[in-house]
Amino acid sequence: MTRILLTGGAGYIGSHTFVALREAGFDVTILDDFSNAEPSVIDRLARLTGGPVDVVRGSVMDRDALDALFAAKPYDGVVHFAARKAVGESTERPLDYFETNIGGLTTLMQAMRAADVWRIVFSSTATVYGEPEVFPLTEDLPLSHTSPYAFTKLTCERILEQAARADPWCVGVLRYFNPVGAHSSAMIGEDPRGVPDNLMPFIAKVALGELAELQVFGDDYDTPDGTAWRDYIHVMDLADAHVRSLQALMDGRAHVLNIGTGRPISVLDMHAAYSAAAGRDLPYRIAPRRPGDVPKLYADPSRARQVLGFQAKRDLDEMCRSSWEWVQARAQGWRFNS
Ligand SMILES: NC(=O)c1ccc[n+]([C@@H]2O[C@H](COP(=O)([O-])OP(=O)(O)OC[C@H]3O[C@@H](n4cnc5c(N)ncnc54)[C@H](O)[C@@H]3O)[C@@H](O)[C@H]2O)c1
Repeated sequence: MTRILLTGGAGYIGSHTFVALREAGFDVTILDDFSNAEPSVIDRLARLTGGPVDVVRGSVMDRDALDALFAAKPYDGVVHFAARKAVGESTERPLDYFETNIGGLTTLMQAMRAADVWRIVFSSTATVYGEPEVFPLTEDLPLSHTSPYAFTKLTCERILEQAARADPWCVGVLRYFNPVGAHSSAMIGEDPRGVPDNLMPFIAKVALGELAELQVFGDDYDTPDGTAWRDYIHVMDLADAHVRSLQALMDGRAHVLNIGTGRPISVLDMHAAYSAAAGRDLPYRIAPRRPGDVPKLYADPSRARQVLGFQAKRDLDEMCRSSWEWVQARAQGWRFNS
């Protein structure tokens, strides 16, 4: 059985990927410091997968903890999710982002190197395309950054590329577009703390009545309805991409890939779809453009199809429906657990 270490595996994308990897027959260990995850997710994962969850509480910045992990099991590869991810916060506390995101990767890679483990899937992001002007986005476009967060992800991509010139690394870089939605069981999903930065968790809180209205930042962009375009991808499709990425690395096929649907969705499209899922017209108000937001981001997903045979299957309605079911279950404290 292929043994995989999942750093940040208790988080949003990590927990869904854990389920997909277990279903695909992988032996998975989670390493997470729970700085942005609820400990109860582990019980829910155990329930969902029908077996115990191998989990270690610790940081990717702790070299001793990593050495102990790699000594305990002969891992075949690592999926590295653990990172800080709030773009706004990264402009206020850039050093924290450099330490966790860049330092976390190099510490992890040093431990992997010492343990002779060379396969790694890295969580990158569409924000490495900076402020692009050519669409859809293909992987070979020039890269840049507009925030310390994006700078860390771009730097990590460069680190992986440079390291592979010296040692036999086999790297899968996945550039996620906008992951949304939840597992169909409604037992795991995105659980942001405080007021969410991102559109779908924000609308979800409006639908729950926790926030009064959705603010639509800008209706004068160069799009058909004037609101910004993004490429939303269901988190379970994203999880499937990780399974395929690992399978490719097991065959020795390194890759750098966009993981999106290729279908741009506007803020007002999302508002309409979520309103339909929640069964009422959710209140919204047009607000000025938000500094730092780009008008459009959507992928050309064709390389992922060629290299991994990956194609996103779930549509916007399913993204909204699964999110709505999850946030309601979450608000009720997962009564199915009692
Ligand atoms: N969610 C998105 O919109 C998105 C988009 C593009 C890329 N990404 C990247 O995908 C990855 C996962 O994102 P997510 O949305 O699941 O975030 P998340 O915050 O839900 O998950 C990250 C997990 O890492 C853990 N963690 C943080 N620092 C750690 C450390 N030092 N040691 C061990 N564990 C640590 C957190 O507790 C959390 O469980 C991140 O690298 C993120 O930058 C996310």
